[in-house]
Amino acid sequence: MITLAPRPGATRLLPPQKSPLSPEITAVGGGFVLSTGGHGKSQLRPFPSSTPRDSFPGWTPAGGQQESTTAGDGTERPGVRGEAADPVSSDQPVAGPAETGESVFAHVPVMAGEIVALFAEVPPGLIVDATLGGGGHSEALLSSRSDISVLGLDRDPAALAAARARLARFGDRFEARHLRFDHIGEALGGSRAAGVLFDLGVSSHQLDRPERGFSYRAGGPLDMRMDPASTLTAADVVNTYEETELARVLRRNADERFASRIARAIVGARPLHDTAELAATIISAIPAAARRSGPHPATRSFQAIRIEVNSELEVLAPALEAAIEGLTPGGRIAVLAYHSGEDRIVKSVLREAARTSPRGRPDLPPPPGFSPRLRLIRSAGRRPSEAEMAANPRSTSARLRAAERI
Ligand SMILES: C[S@@+](CC[C@H](N)C(=O)[O-])C[C@H]1O[C@@H](n2cnc3c(N)ncnc32)[C@H](O)[C@@H]1O
Repeated sequence: MITLAPRPGATRLLPPQKSPLSPEITAVGGGFVLSTGGHGKSQLRPFPSSTPRDSFPGWTPAGGQQESTTAGDGTERPGVRGEAADPVSSDQPVAGPAETGESVFAHVPVMAGEIVALFAEVPPGLIVDATLGGGGHSEALLSSRSDISVLGLDRDPAALAAARARLARFGDRFEARHLRFDHIGEALGGSRAAGVLFDLGVSSHQLDRPERGFSYRAGGPLDMRMDPASTLTAADVVNTYEETELARVLRRNADERFASRIARAIVGARPLHDTAELAATIISAIPAAARRSGPHPATRSFQAIRIEVNSELEVLAPALEAAIEGLTPGGRIAVLAYHSGEDRIVKSVLREAARTSPRGRPDLPPPPGFSPRLRLIRSAGRRPSEAEMAANPRSTSARLRAAERI
């Protein structure tokens, strides 16, 4: 469950409000008025905002953490979910480092050129950036068209603060809310969006702050919560889960082939106190030969535990469904996934919504009332260009899927 209690200096957590003046007008947070006209397209006009511009809490450029993935086609694709040292190739609209007063956020948004091109086709109105992070994609989108606004969601207050500072110059065209993305319907408050973007997974900031406990590279607490107000922590998972359950988590969330051995080692080493101890325990359980090549041996286990702590797979399908339901006709959904488990869910939800005949009966004409809700923009997922992968290793495992609301 998402915690909606406000914290000092963190985020504004207003529920959407129906305007008493007209059922067609909905205020989303404090920054926009969305008017859904008879033609069904959302139009957005600003109204005076009281959004506090939070100070930036020290978001540092990332060093890059390997996140090993298995892509949808089953091939192993070690990737880096961190910052690239080099800039992205010049054909990408790269959002540069954002001066925030206290630090610099130097995040290169993945496949930003493709994302901007996808949303260039949507009707004017509101784009929901469901995974705002440092606001790189939002910045590219807001810069690309003057007739769109962006509502950014994130479960991490630090991300919201960074994005607010970065995007302040867009005024009332940008709003950020502390919300888990499966609550997208609540954020829209009955209005329709012209687009929804998901850039799944963890941010560079989260990986690179040792105190957040996401990284095997630096010693930190066993935390891994994207929302520091949520209850389950990595310590709970590694110190209290049954051995079989732990093995299941490692297998299901990261295809870890040494899941049983690692689970046994973790249970034998309890209580574990920090990420360094956890990483050492995982490494000790992996045969020496398997440790010599590929990504860091703790990559998959850390990824699996993080996914468990944040219920990342459980919330994804309901969030995609809510996003599809919240789109105006002609509106688009775009999803960047970074590992096979996520990508399988994305592919399945989009394909199901684009189905032109009932499941298992492609031979029969659709029954009355059966109609697809989506048109797939490309049935296969797209991958970053070689140039982008070379320039931004973080993009290596990305797979982009997109569809348009009918
Ligand atoms: C890969 S980063 C996004 C980076 C962003 N596109 C940019 O260009 O800066 C993913 C972000 O999504 C957030 N996130 C992950 N799962 C979420 C969820 N279920 N609800 C809301 N935010 C989530 C994370 O906290 C993180 O900040």
